[in-house]
Amino acid sequence: MKRAHLLSTQELTRADALEILDTARQLSRATDGAIRKLPTLRGRTVVNLFFEDSTRTRLSFEAAAKRLSADVINFSAKGSSVSKGESLKDTAQTLEAMGGELMIIRHSASGAAQRLAESGWVKSHIVNAGDGMHEHPTQALLDAFTIRSHFPEFDRDFTGLRIGIVGDILHSRVARSNAQLLTLLGADVVLIAPPTLLPIGVDTWPVKISYDLDSEISSLDAIMALRVQSERMNDAFFPSEREYAREYGLAGSRLRALKKNAIIMHPGPMNRGLEISAEGADSKQSVILEQVANGVLVRMAVLYLLMGGAPIPTEGVLV
Ligand code: CP
Repeated sequence: MKRAHLLSTQELTRADALEILDTARQLSRATDGAIRKLPTLRGRTVVNLFFEDSTRTRLSFEAAAKRLSADVINFSAKGSSVSKGESLKDTAQTLEAMGGELMIIRHSASGAAQRLAESGWVKSHIVNAGDGMHEHPTQALLDAFTIRSHFPEFDRDFTGLRIGIVGDILHSRVARSNAQLLTLLGADVVLIAPPTLLPIGVDTWPVKISYDLDSEISSLDAIMALRVQSERMNDAFFPSEREYAREYGLAGSRLRALKKNAIIMHPGPMNRGLEISAEGADSKQSVILEQVANGVLVRMAVLYLLMGGAPIPTEGVLV
């Protein structure tokens, strides 16, 4: 993959996406034995630069870097000199001066990763770990990896797979990145949401739109429930949580209406009882924890490809 940064799924070619997914699979095979660590990024330094809260993304990037033997510097805006007014430029330059070569940035501002990549402030590779309501490319890649592992007959081409993304599309960088990547790979994507939770311009996205979950559910091979992002809502987007759960919650009879081999996905964190019931989240068809595990592999692949690590050994080694 000949690129310095990973900023969005928009910029990926189909060949780029397949290379990342194939590399993640190769890394999975190399680390599924007793020894899970590879020496490929030994002596290299990765910076986690998080201006917004995260559990899965931050920790899985850290785990990914450590599995490749890289050193990790973790920065969280909370408790840092950001509270004293330090800018993104000065923060990034400070962390690069400590040895950072690749920065994984999460920020509430859409375009923050691109700004850092294009500003010339730092020489580091930049990975977007979620920028506002814009994109979350590694989430989409780990979702594609998870779908691929459950539908091996669609390994290199998702044509014929129908994937539903349900709920708060408006505020969701996950929806934006997945709609782009999954259609790039050939899938039919249907966004299912109330009109108030669809963004302006969604008609230009390469997807179908539906307001009715019950009429779609039995045709889906994968259903991705999205978190209702209350923290980004400064208005009423639906009458009540009870009504939202009744119309768009993945629960009850809807679980029975799913195809037997359909998979239930959620990027996390979940609002159990709102967009998904506990029964749905914990069902045999749920792959939510697989998504988390696959996140480490896909992020290893991204770090490896961007930083140009040493060849991947066929199995883990003592380092
Ligand atoms: N899916 C996801 O981005 O989760 P975190 O906010 O916990 O990183």
